[in-house]
Amino acid sequence: MQSEKPKFYLTTPIYYTNGLPHIGHTYTTVVADAIRRYKRMRGYEVVMTTGTDEHGVNVERAAQKAGIPESEYVAKMAVAWKSLWDELGIPADEFVRTTDIRHVRTVQWLFKLCKENGYVYKGNYTGQYCIYDNAFVTDAKPGDNCPDCGRPTETVTEENYYFKLSAFQKPLLDFYKKNPTFIQPETRKNEIVSFVEGGLKDLSITRTTVRWGIPVPGEEPHVFYVWFDALTAYLSAVGGPDFEKRGFWPCDLHLVGKDIIRFHTVYWPAFLMAAMLPVPKQVWAHGWFLMDASKMSKSKGNVVLPRPIANMLGMDAMRYFLLRDVVFGQDGNFSYDALVTRYNSDLANGLGNLASRVLTMIEQHLDGMAPGKPAAAEDARDLQVNELRQQTIVQACKHYDSFEFTRALETIWRLIAEVDKYLVETKPWVLIKAAGSFDQFVTTIYTAYNALREVLILAHPILPDATRKIWKQMGQTAELNTLDIHLDWPPVANVRIGKIEAAFPRVDKQEAIERIEAMANEELNPTQPPAPAAAPAPAATAGGAAAAPAPEKIGIEDFTKVEMRVGQIKTAERIVGADKLLKLTVDIGTEIRQICAGIAQFYEPEKLIGRKVAVVVNLAPRKLRGVESNGMIVAASVGPEGRPVLAGFPDEDVEVGARLK
Ligand code: MSP
Repeated sequence: MQSEKPKFYLTTPIYYTNGLPHIGHTYTTVVADAIRRYKRMRGYEVVMTTGTDEHGVNVERAAQKAGIPESEYVAKMAVAWKSLWDELGIPADEFVRTTDIRHVRTVQWLFKLCKENGYVYKGNYTGQYCIYDNAFVTDAKPGDNCPDCGRPTETVTEENYYFKLSAFQKPLLDFYKKNPTFIQPETRKNEIVSFVEGGLKDLSITRTTVRWGIPVPGEEPHVFYVWFDALTAYLSAVGGPDFEKRGFWPCDLHLVGKDIIRFHTVYWPAFLMAAMLPVPKQVWAHGWFLMDASKMSKSKGNVVLPRPIANMLGMDAMRYFLLRDVVFGQDGNFSYDALVTRYNSDLANGLGNLASRVLTMIEQHLDGMAPGKPAAAEDARDLQVNELRQQTIVQACKHYDSFEFTRALETIWRLIAEVDKYLVETKPWVLIKAAGSFDQFVTTIYTAYNALREVLILAHPILPDATRKIWKQMGQTAELNTLDIHLDWPPVANVRIGKIEAAFPRVDKQEAIERIEAMANEELNPTQPPAPAAAPAPAATAGGAAAAPAPEKIGIEDFTKVEMRVGQIKTAERIVGADKLLKLTVDIGTEIRQICAGIAQFYEPEKLIGRKVAVVVNLAPRKLRGVESNGMIVAASVGPEGRPVLAGFPDEDVEVGARLK
């Protein structure tokens, strides 16, 4: 039986399987999850789709490098993506893989419809192709680099099936006009409209140079062009050819990064129009999370991983930061410093502190029973809080509806600040002691409790775990995620509060950052030897190698993989904001390297100049507190606190650059 509820269908992009998720991908999935939770609380039946884009030359190459068949390679990668989303509490309702049979059928069906309707023809194409972006680069000459990723293009000639994209210039422009909110934000819309106004060339939608793809039926070795394949996944996930049965098509919202907006707002609606299928209602392009002003990539060594942040601060902290710090649609710089600062100020001191303040007073002075009504007549100050509470519902919903998460959170946190101020002004801790003010005390607590309750309901889509936890501590029993967010609720009946626990314990900023970075380094370079002097996090140094379980024996071939050389320290300086780290420049014979070492608490920088040390020179570069470290200084880890003692050559004069074997 079909549900009575209105339906809402939203998607994230279908992520490439030749890499693993970083904070940029996590961002889109978190946004999608927050919208899904919000819409459910507004009475919608929601489906959120994400998945993996598994075809193309890049996958062929990655599988070859890994020495396994493509199917095995993508299966492993799909598990890695899916299980990370599950672990982070942002699971897909539909996880679609482009190797799923339901998807293969949908792509072949869509092609058939486009062909039957006269929008597909056969031709030859020679052009410059970027294998990294899976796209021909228009107007590029042999030798040109790809304008998007900067890597060399390759000249490719092949027989293709073409899609008559040129026929859709007018229909698309008419469609944009009729549906002015189809492309969001506005700036992106202008960009796309002028692109389409500039004229559209037909698009080749099959390949014969690629083997790993969905076959064009009866036309082998033609396989589908990855974008014709990948975009269709949105439709495959909700029924494919039978989409009408499930009732989730057309899609309400495609969330995408700004780099792939053209595929979603030009090609995708054109394919669907050609097949005479309904076109999605909206495409929202968000900006990028940048690291040091450039896009994250593993080759640059500047990726931020989600798991270490979630492990250290909790997933809610990451969700809050991603949605609060950067205006949705714009680019933003990621910094651990800003993340932990927000955690301590807005979550630990803001929401967490308000909750424990109110609940502790109920526990101490009202025998743990939250008041069911105001005991004294509410005065102007109480009414002011109540009024802001009412306004906050309307305002926050308005911002959520237009995906202005930053503003929704600002609005909710304004109420938190107002209740804090109210408590400071009404001083319930004084009222409870003064004769004859008990009723006033109860009224104050009642007002604050109800405001807190609303904060939790409104913040739930963004902080699902913490709000649930505090909700339980408040003694509330209804399922928070099923509450109707847009209605005010009747006053609470007397309820007994639960055990009070800090939802967001305060953290030491530096220590938290160091731990996150150590976990990230470990995840990125899992084979790295333990207890390095350059990894300053407590997790890596405490106890040191002595405390670690006996490692498996390795062969000499494994040992020789580690290239260690004699280095000489040329300069050494402290790093502002990182008490444990020194930034060194080290001569390793062939070059001067910058290396960070976690030895600042035990070595004076000036005394290190000229000292000869053992350096691991073939470690992948990484960033420590935002400073690049290209190598590792070897040190013994001594005592229970893991005090680093530099390995050296005090007795003989060794040549700089000599290899340690
Ligand atoms: N497979 C295609 C999408 C096909 S959708 C039918 C693809 N995959 S991707 O894995 O490279 O990128 C997926 C999304 O992640 C894109 O929307 C991209 O913008 C986003 N991001 C990748 N790095 C990002 C940041 N650093 N910040 C924010 N989002 C970024 O493209």
